[in-house]
Amino acid sequence: MPNENMTTIAIVGQKGGAGKTTLARVLASAALASKQRVHVIDTDPQSAFSRWYARVSKNGGGALPEDRFHIEVQHDADALAARVDELYEAGDTDLVLIDTKGELTEWTGKVMREADRLIMPVMPTPTDIEIQLQTLDFYEDLREMHPDDFPPLACVLTRVPPNGKRSKAEERSVAEIASQFPIVPTVLVARASYIKMDEEGFLHVLRQRIAENPAERLQVKNIEETLSEAVDIFNEVMEFTDEG
Ligand SMILES: Nc1ncnc2c1ncn2[C@@H]1O[C@H](COP(=O)(O)OP(=O)(O)OP(=O)(O)O)[C@@H](O)[C@H]1O
Ligand SMILES: [Mg+2]
Repeated sequence: MPNENMTTIAIVGQKGGAGKTTLARVLASAALASKQRVHVIDTDPQSAFSRWYARVSKNGGGALPEDRFHIEVQHDADALAARVDELYEAGDTDLVLIDTKGELTEWTGKVMREADRLIMPVMPTPTDIEIQLQTLDFYEDLREMHPDDFPPLACVLTRVPPNGKRSKAEERSVAEIASQFPIVPTVLVARASYIKMDEEGFLHVLRQRIAENPAERLQVKNIEETLSEAVDIFNEVMEFTDEG
């Protein structure tokens, strides 16, 4: 039976290194921690997510339980549409996450149209924002072409310095985005725990491992804070509307 509640989220944005794949792993961690069944479609030719998954799984950092997580590589945008339909019809997936490469082409437009929601990570620096604003223009053009059938988009601020201080120029750049698109309230802080996730595996799995290992107990607070940030971002990404 189809799963009417299945949600497909594509993580987009032209800027390389903005944190697309990191955000995809963060959302997967949060959804898995909330007992959802997650399916990742990795459309990036560099296959960063799938390589990462293969690597961390060998050391026990993959999804737990394994049967609630699947990942596949798919570079063909037309085949992608069929896969999303199949997952919907099969009914055993709650969240589909599409990780993408940073480009603005016909391919990007096709991938965007397969999603129910789009999210774009933005590092709040003037250069990154300038490049991501081009993604927003690209998105607006496509949305005008398909006014009744194009997913809403929200931004997530990423790699935000832990002290949260922003220069005037950064404030202005963020305000420029916020005047046009919703920005989810919780930001992805630049944290050692995200580097640990890159090295070792999903956040909820790290939390469990750290809690069970007396030598790592001191890190429990860090990882719990990070997972709670992940869950907040996930909930906000599931809830935003076109109105902001
Ligand atoms: N919040 C964060 N805290 C610490 N490190 C981070 C954070 N976000 C991203 N990084 C690191 O920054 C680098 C780039 O991030 P990531 O690979 O997620 O970007 P991307 O947008 O997917 O890049 P690409 O365009 O190559 O696909 C990675 O090494 C990642 O571990
Ligand atoms: Mg990536």
